[in-house]
Amino acid sequence: MNLNKKHVILGVTGGIAAYKSVTLSRLLQKEGATVRIAMTRNATQLVGPLTFETLTGYPVGLDSFALESPSRILHIEWAEWADLCVIAPATANILGKAACGIADDLLSTLILALKCPLVFVPAMHHQMWANPVVQRNVKILRDLGYDVMPPAEGELASGGTGPGRLPEPEEIVRYLQNLKSEGAD
Ligand SMILES: Cc1cc2nc3c(=O)[nH]c(=O)nc-3n(C[C@H](O)[C@H](O)[C@H](O)COP(=O)(O)O)c2cc1C
Repeated sequence: MNLNKKHVILGVTGGIAAYKSVTLSRLLQKEGATVRIAMTRNATQLVGPLTFETLTGYPVGLDSFALESPSRILHIEWAEWADLCVIAPATANILGKAACGIADDLLSTLILALKCPLVFVPAMHHQMWANPVVQRNVKILRDLGYDVMPPAEGELASGGTGPGRLPEPEEIVRYLQNLKSEGAD
């Protein structure tokens, strides 16, 4: 997918690699995309929304119910706006919620409303990644037609070595550029 002039929602969940999403949002912008950020509450413990707001020039989507105008329904508005959604890092939690259709915050509700391609970029400790429940959820998501980028292998911030690292932001951008989706370009 050519990212130039595309509307991209970057979903950020509460993984230790959330700091890499800051670089990812910059790289997406460099490719010509307009980026909006949807964060989970837990992600804000790891990166401040103000960082993303300053870099993207747009308020971070956090709460479904925190609007000045109650007539605007944020998850629908954003779903209509988006050409692509990428969730990086994607926690084990968001994978599980998405696989089950749980919609209890802005990001998980948005997932159900999207009509554009959605790419999950999981990142977690290798023991979590190896957990059969997580693997089952990844399979469910792929079977449903979502894209799940395989995690990188190596030293993990949470200790240990193995698959579960968030791929470098440059690799994520390349992966998105190689997406083949109907009407994407
Ligand atoms: C410091 C810290 C780092 C974490 N890193 C990860 C991680 O890399 N991947 C993951 O799946 N969960 C990680 N967790 C656990 C998630 O934050 C937790 O499952 C949370 O409920 C996820 O919520 P969210 O998906 O709504 O953001 C971490 C927790 C803490 C306290």
